[in-house]
Order: sequence, then C-alpha cells, then structure tokens
Amino acid sequence: MKEITQIKGDFFGKDIITLDQFSSSDIQFLFHHVGQYQEIADTNTLSKTLAGYIITLLFYEPSSRTFGSFCSAAQRLGAGIIPVQNPQAVSSVSKGESLEDTIRTFASYSDAIVIRSKEAGTAQKAADATYIPVLNAGDGGASHPTQGLLDLYTIYQSVKRLDNLTVVATGDILHSRTIHSLIQGLSLFAKNTIYLLSPKELRLSKEDYKKFSGNGIVIKEIFDADQIPTHAHVWYWNRIQKERFATQKEAEKYTNRFVLTKELLHKYGNKNLMIMDPLPRVGEIDEAVDQDPRAYYFKQMRNGLYVRMTLFSLILKRL
Ligand code: CP
Repeated sequence: MKEITQIKGDFFGKDIITLDQFSSSDIQFLFHHVGQYQEIADTNTLSKTLAGYIITLLFYEPSSRTFGSFCSAAQRLGAGIIPVQNPQAVSSVSKGESLEDTIRTFASYSDAIVIRSKEAGTAQKAADATYIPVLNAGDGGASHPTQGLLDLYTIYQSVKRLDNLTVVATGDILHSRTIHSLIQGLSLFAKNTIYLLSPKELRLSKEDYKKFSGNGIVIKEIFDADQIPTHAHVWYWNRIQKERFATQKEAEKYTNRFVLTKELLHKYGNKNLMIMDPLPRVGEIDEAVDQDPRAYYFKQMRNGLYVRMTLFSLILKRL
C-alpha cells in the first residue's frame, strides 16, 4: 500500500487524498501561485503548461462544480481530458470491473486521475493501485480536500490570514465532507475556533470529534441559532446531504432546519462577515441574501477553478 505522503513543500507527483498531508507552509506555497493561474483563466489565455498531458476524471457520484472546474482547469492549461461521469453506467465498471482494475486502465492512458466516490477511503484505494497521481474529489462523507483548499483560499483572499478566526459551520455536520475538510484545513493554523451548528442527530461522529479536536482547533458544538456568536469571521452554510441517509423521509426531517435569511444575518452577522457555501444550494440560504456584499459563495465557486489549475500544475510539473 502506498503511504499517504506529506507534501513538505513539493507537490510534484503526489496524490491529494486528505488535508492531513499539508502543513500551513504548503498551503501558503500553493496560494502564492494561485494569482498567476487566475490571470490565465480571467484573460482566456491559451496556456501550454500541461500540453501533451491527459487527465482522467472518474466521477462515481454526481457533481457540477468539482467536475466542471477540474475539466476546465485541465483544458485551460492545455491538457486533454478523459471525462467519465457515472462509470457504473458508461464504463466497464458496469460489467463488474473492480476499482483497482479501472484505475490501472485509466492510468494506462492518462497522467493523473481525479476521482469522486460514494465510499470513504476510495481515493486512497485508487492511489494504492497506481503510480500516477490521484486527486480525491470527494470520498463519501469523509473528506473533500480540494474543496477545503479553495475554501481556505477564499477566506485568505478576503481576511488576509488563516489564523485567529472564528467560523460557524452549519448543516449536516455528520456527513458533510466539505465541513470535515474545512475543519482539517483550519486546524493547520493557530488559534482557530469553529462552531458547529446542527440538529443533535447530525453532530460530528464521536470518532471524528476526537480526531479533529486533537489537532489544535477549538470545536464548539451548538444546536440552536441563538448560540451563533456575533463576532464570527465566516458563516459556512451547507445543505443536508440527503444522499447519505437511508431514506429520503429521514433526510427531510432535517432539511432546512437552519436557513440563512436576511433576518438571521441582521440578528447575528457583523459587517465584515463572509457567507460561504460549497454549494449546491438546496434552500439553506435564502436567495434574497445573494445581493448582500457579504455573500461569497459564487466567488468561492470560481476560486475552485484557480486553485485546481494551480494544483494540477504543481503536481504534474515542477514550477
Ligand atoms: N462543492 C461541490 O463539491 O459541488 P459539486 O458536488 O457540484 O461538485
């Protein structure tokens, strides 16, 4: 089995499986390079950085942002792509081919594999099956490291630091891989506090609570909107992850328990607050909030393109 490799200042050839691989200086190094890729994307410059490279996108679960931004990132850098959405229907997975053989197959035709899967740990299994870099685009409810990176980048762009922050994350904390990665990312920097607002049934699992709170971040679980601190730098709203529940009915019990409205914002938000959401939005933020200058979620989505372009470049080329 391939070990999870620490980045240690050198992204070249590495898998991206979890934010545990990163140090604060690795994140700062990555962010230092993002501006040049933003410039390429925003000016529609035809970059040849990855000309001659092919990247496979193997998505076992639906996606708009992660799939779209990884496809766009590869092509804006001159790479070709093998886009495989729903391999259960369109590839030899439908004939019973194993994950490992599927990975070996696409590794024969490409230089990196981006994988989204239903099960925690699948990205690591994929990485173990090949020597080309594997990037985790979300593995079940466990983690979504590239989302974590773009979320941190969005905060950094606005607040200009990643320490001494108070963040409120809301929704399905139990199953939200984006919130798990955000906690891991914030843990790499000093003196951060995260309030986790959710129905009691959807709080962090005991195992995750132990794992995440051992990394230096202060975690405060709250179960009522009245407990939202008014001094927060970021509100990170996220939907109920209905695909992780046994039945739709079960998920519906929790849907939109905490909706971000103008009224809530007026009551507990301060003037410098950033409102974020990894999206898709399914009612957890009222559309009336979109016009508020504190709404960062669409900017956050665009940042995914810049951060993923930077990651591809650092992993496939030595800058
Ligand atoms: N944020 C995110 O992962 O969105 P998609 O599921 O659309 O990729």
